[in-house]
Amino acid sequence: MLLKKRAIVTGGTRGIGRAIVKELASKSCCGILFSDVAFIYNSCDECAEELQQEINDPSIKIHGFKADASSLKDAEATVQSAIETLGGVDILVNNAGITRDNLLLRMSEQDFDSVINVNLKSVFNYTKAVMKQMIKQRYGRIVNISSVVGMIGNAGQANYAASKAGVIGFTKATAKELASRNITVNAVAPGFIETEMTQQLNDKQREVLLQNIPLKRMGTPEDIARVVAFLCSEDANYVTGQVIAVDGGMVM
Ligand SMILES: NC(=O)c1ccc[n+]([C@@H]2O[C@H](COP(=O)([O-])OP(=O)(O)OC[C@H]3O[C@@H](n4cnc5c(N)ncnc54)[C@H](O)[C@@H]3O)[C@@H](O)[C@H]2O)c1
Repeated sequence: MLLKKRAIVTGGTRGIGRAIVKELASKSCCGILFSDVAFIYNSCDECAEELQQEINDPSIKIHGFKADASSLKDAEATVQSAIETLGGVDILVNNAGITRDNLLLRMSEQDFDSVINVNLKSVFNYTKAVMKQMIKQRYGRIVNISSVVGMIGNAGQANYAASKAGVIGFTKATAKELASRNITVNAVAPGFIETEMTQQLNDKQREVLLQNIPLKRMGTPEDIARVVAFLCSEDANYVTGQVIAVDGGMVM
């Protein structure tokens, strides 16, 4: 039986977020779940329109909302509008993220703050904004996108590693707080995934990275999206507070 859900995905117009929106909206997803989806984006209006047209299934509602994920005020207003548009919310995927890499010696306060605000505070903002509705209906699936860098660190990414380790701590604390209301909270920690975020890597850096990946390839956004969809599905009803690395075996 197909069960239709309602999902909110932050940072949905490109890369991993875009693949998650498409996976959740796909009727072939997990055989048991597909969703109407509200996605949050902060810049490219054409990308948002293109994504809506690409899905183009009259039985599925896809709606883009332009907002800054690091603002609690924006998150509350956007979640309110998304709930009105979709008729509720069952799933939240906190995916929005940025990098501002530099060695700590050269890292500015602004680059530290903006990475923490977009990568970690946004998770607080959207979780806070959806939780009342999820508690009321005694059902919710929350998936936070962390990173293997939050588990093992990486030189030049102190801000990013701190934000992604913070996401893991936040995931475990909220999993404990919300479990009694049948709300699961899990994190997915991608390894190195082919998106615009990793396009800055040069050939030498890629070669070194690949040497440390047992499966000998970078991941695709779809590799991540399928695991996120599983955690949102009824098959994962008894999974909460977990961090699933999707990294080709890089961290084990
Ligand atoms: N690509 C990788 O190798 C990799 C590895 C580990 C974790 N991740 C994480 O996966 C997530 C997606 O990354 P990606 O590779 O698809 O990156 P990306 O740069 O392609 O996409 C990031 C998305 O976040 C959105 N975003 C950024 N700032 C925002 C803001 N203030 N408000 C709303 N939206 C905002 C962007 O518009 C974009 O849609 C991020 O959280 C990232 O940290 C990526």
